[in-house]
Amino acid sequence: MEIQFLGHAALYIKTSTHNILVDPFISGNPKASSINIQDLNPQAILLTHAHQDHILDVEKIAKANDSLIISNFEIVSHFQNKGLNGHPMNHGGKWTFDFGELKYVNAIHTSSFPDGSYGGQPGGFVLSTDNKIIYIAGDTALTYDMKLIASEFKLDLAVLPIGDNFTMGIDDAIVASDFVECDKVLGCHFDTFSFIEIDQNRAVEKFSNNGKELILLQIGMSITI
Ligand code: NI
Ligand code: MN
Repeated sequence: MEIQFLGHAALYIKTSTHNILVDPFISGNPKASSINIQDLNPQAILLTHAHQDHILDVEKIAKANDSLIISNFEIVSHFQNKGLNGHPMNHGGKWTFDFGELKYVNAIHTSSFPDGSYGGQPGGFVLSTDNKIIYIAGDTALTYDMKLIASEFKLDLAVLPIGDNFTMGIDDAIVASDFVECDKVLGCHFDTFSFIEIDQNRAVEKFSNNGKELILLQIGMSITI
């Protein structure tokens, strides 16, 4: 599968059969001005939590493409009330979709909507498709629960936040990579705002010093796994 970085925590995953969008925050991200929302036609949209920097463009994209919104119960209900399609999940739950299998896993963070209303509890996803397994951590602290992921899945890639302040920083992300037993990490949630600015070269070097690969993509660039 091909994974395109759309800036911040937004990903566009192209499997052999489907396009899957994760946490779209594009129109509000001046650094992602090269991305045109109209070019995205996802069959499914995965949302880790309700914060604005993860859901800003959901309505527009879901409406235009009749996308299935997959998230926790509260977030899916919120979008279903706007007439959009959704599939609610909750922590620990697994479901087989036509694009592959998802498990909604624990994250330590918060999840209010931009207006302050309740957005359920934040989570991450383990996506199994095209004979690959990727962990999309969402916004989270380092947590021992990540060890449960390694006990169930043999990951090919871990997508981890590394920007610190609101989520794990680089040092904790290195430990997280140990906990999930995956040395190939795609970094996200960095450099969008001043609170989460990082030294990219230093981050890559720190991972490398620990025998790990940290992939930092320019916005719009992709990796294939
Ligand atoms: Ni957040
Ligand atoms: Mn965030």
